[in-house]
Amino acid sequence: MNEQVNLKTVPHEGEAISKRDWVPINLDLRDTWFPVAYSADVGTRPVRRVVHNQDVYLWRDGAAVHAAEFRPDRLEAMRSCASAFTGGSGRYPIVECYGYVWTWYGDPDHAHEELIPNIPFLPRDGQGIPRYTQRAVRFDAASPLSVENLIDLTHADFLHADVVGDEKMDKETVEVFHDSETITMVRSCVNKSVAPVMKLFGGVKADVQQVRQVIRIYLRSHAAIAYGRFSPGDNVQLFHPCVPETRDRTRLDYTMNTSNVKKSNPFRYVMPKASYKVSRQDSSMTSPQSPRYMHSEPRKDLHSPLDEAGQKYRVLMLALAERQARGDFAYRDNVSTDCSEIIGYQK
Ligand SMILES: [Fe+2]
Repeated sequence: MNEQVNLKTVPHEGEAISKRDWVPINLDLRDTWFPVAYSADVGTRPVRRVVHNQDVYLWRDGAAVHAAEFRPDRLEAMRSCASAFTGGSGRYPIVECYGYVWTWYGDPDHAHEELIPNIPFLPRDGQGIPRYTQRAVRFDAASPLSVENLIDLTHADFLHADVVGDEKMDKETVEVFHDSETITMVRSCVNKSVAPVMKLFGGVKADVQQVRQVIRIYLRSHAAIAYGRFSPGDNVQLFHPCVPETRDRTRLDYTMNTSNVKKSNPFRYVMPKASYKVSRQDSSMTSPQSPRYMHSEPRKDLHSPLDEAGQKYRVLMLALAERQARGDFAYRDNVSTDCSEIIGYQK
């Protein structure tokens, strides 16, 4: 790659990363796949997506799917302007799986299909994923901030209480697991207030539920798995990719796979639409913070023990950014390994 990682926000080599100091996250991690569009949204007519201000045009030509920096009719004429992201060819590496078209952001020579994040509850070949489970929304905030908001599962009790239930419960346990490419938060709640969406549409009659919620983040891809087990109630299977379009804008083409829910249960069709409401609630909190998020400031970054996942997320993102600033883009941990066990997935 010719382009350098933005060093302004990355600590210099040897400089300690303090967990207590507010340090902005470098946005621009390279050598990663982004799920830029639903497969079903890509046809013969080109569609445009944006990743870190870079244009990505997608289209089909018979059985082949294409991704390029330029419109297909301009591709030949513009080839001399092609960037290092396409190795000067104008064409991005591309893979279709889990119902998405994924394009590579980084050095095309480093693109390998086995670097696509594992999503246990979506069919790898993308076949049979109902369209009602696929909905697109936006966050008016930086993608890492949107991810950081998400990995704090406890925020839902306050911000989304009218959808997924409030903070009332008898006991709460939070566990955080990580490697160099992923972070996973597991939250277990005993006798938690029933999610209103399940009470209204999911046929849950009880007042309390036993809840086990998991968020797993694939750091470079800004992609999250949200998996919840609710008893009584249905399991919630959400693939939540935050694609960084611009500094303060995130595209979320999510898949809320409710195909496990009984056809007679309205929850199956209502729950995928809940993010229209939920994403506005998230955006209302993260959008005002987004301009500040990218700037360093001397203020101490105070936090409680429940913020462990968010703190760890920052540390891990900075560690990746630091390595990339030194020219090290290699993966030290495997993101395509089956994570069913870690998230407690029940088939
Ligand atoms: Fe949220």
